[in-house]
Amino acid sequence: MLNKFKIVALVIGAMLFASAAYAEDSMGEWLLSFNRMKGVKPVTDKQYAKECGECHFAYQPGLLPAKSWEQLLTADALKKHFGVNAELDAATRSAILTYAVNNAAETSWYKRSRKIAIATEKGPAPLRITELRYISRVHQDIPEKMIKGNKDVKSLSQCNACHTQAAQGVFDSDTVNIPNYPNWDD
Ligand code: HEC
Ligand code: HEC
Repeated sequence: MLNKFKIVALVIGAMLFASAAYAEDSMGEWLLSFNRMKGVKPVTDKQYAKECGECHFAYQPGLLPAKSWEQLLTADALKKHFGVNAELDAATRSAILTYAVNNAAETSWYKRSRKIAIATEKGPAPLRITELRYISRVHQDIPEKMIKGNKDVKSLSQCNACHTQAAQGVFDSDTVNIPNYPNWDD
């Protein structure tokens, strides 16, 4: 009996050793993708990236809950989208709405999406990311001259003007660079 156990243990040990050696290569990659889970999931839909990245940064759907996308992306809402007309043909609108809802904050395991999902679970649907308490709070100490008064930023809605890795879904403060204010954090 004991011997059989020893043999089984040895075989399992050998298998584990082999798979560990095999996994070593992809380990770094795995750690890297795990680390990226701290942000939000990058945009993967080409149509969304194109249509919603025309006037501003293509906000990741994981930055708002589904109920927000459902209100923002109706045909009527798009016609008067923050003072501009962002109308889409019916098929494109429907595909973009589906993509946004399927990737909304509450569907995601990324850290920042989790936070946003929990914070917006109750209450009305926020229509701006910049109005989320979590987002407005982290920016409250940035002086207006660095945002509205900054010709290379103009609005807090232009995430990628300051967050150099915004497109990758990374918003950590150590990846921020405010244009024209290299020493913003002094
Ligand atoms: C024709 C230009 C245009 C297009 C196309 C457009 N937007 Fe916008 N969007 C705007 C403007 C202007 C604002 C307001 C920006 C500001 O306040 O600085 C805005 C703001 C937003 C905001 C709020 C940002 C914040 O302040 O938190 C969201 C969310 C948004 N757009 C999503 C989308 C999505 C999704 C699409 C694709 C269906 C889209 N937009 C297409 C012009 C556009
Ligand atoms: C004017 C430049 C600027 C713009 C535009 C901007 N941010 Fe920021 N953001 C900052 C700075 C600076 C910080 C770091 C604040 C600090 O560390 O005190 C920050 C912090 C953050 C954080 C917290 C980072 C952390 O390490 O916890 C998040 C999340 C964030 N921003 C998301 C966004 C999103 C989403 C947008 C667009 C809707 C946006 N930001 C637009 C400058 C900007």
